[in-house]
Amino acid sequence: MHIAIIMDGNGRWAARRGFPRTAGHRQGAEAVNAVVEAAARKGVDILSLYAFSAANWNRPPDEVGALFTLLRRYLLNQTQRCLEQSIRINVIGRRDRLDSKLRQVIQHSECTTAHCTGMLLRIAVDYSSQYSLIEAARSIQLQGNAALDNFTAHLAAVDHSTAPAPSVDLLIRTGGEKRLSDFLLFECAYAELYFTECYWPDFDAHAFDAALQEFARRDRRFGQVASPALAGASHG
Ligand code: FPP
Repeated sequence: MHIAIIMDGNGRWAARRGFPRTAGHRQGAEAVNAVVEAAARKGVDILSLYAFSAANWNRPPDEVGALFTLLRRYLLNQTQRCLEQSIRINVIGRRDRLDSKLRQVIQHSECTTAHCTGMLLRIAVDYSSQYSLIEAARSIQLQGNAALDNFTAHLAAVDHSTAPAPSVDLLIRTGGEKRLSDFLLFECAYAELYFTECYWPDFDAHAFDAALQEFARRDRRFGQVASPALAGASHG
């Protein structure tokens, strides 16, 4: 099962307490630890977290700097912990605009955990689905039409993704907004969407469980008719 999360509401969590926005992001990084552990415990195969979108470059420079510091710290401090839980780390998104030190830390985390066979933790950094799709199309154009047969491989290459664009089963967005914000648009084609008012720093193992329980109640039809148990009860 592939779960993707748009971790929203850090700023509002902080504002509500009279803290600077960066305090919300710090607390958000703590929530990441809790949810990664909960997901691994639940046997989730892939967890994709939206840590920094391409649009986030437009935030004030000190907030952007704080987010990258948190990411670097997360990778430096949690790689060992991931290794112990056999979690493989993969940072997806553009690398060319990242600081070279962060690029090195990313490479170190990915190499250190490359052999892990447990959950795949994908952290999206400088990520934009629209950019990825356009770049994948560009690379196919350069290689000729035959390359189109393997579109997901091209998309994976653009994204630095170790797995070829895995389909998302459940997309969770915290913070009350109901939009996809350019996250995994191709991969979310048949994803179940789960929106919660909970701000990301408050999202814990219990909140994660609630999302899984709601997912278990959904009837995933992939364009087909309802499952026999629900046939007759459903018009959708
Ligand atoms: C959106 O909240 C959140 C982000 C832009 C950053 C998410 C980053 C983290 C959770 C911490 C670092 C990540 C890792 C993987 C260690 P917002 O600031 O837009 O909140 P708002 O909508 O309330 O302003």
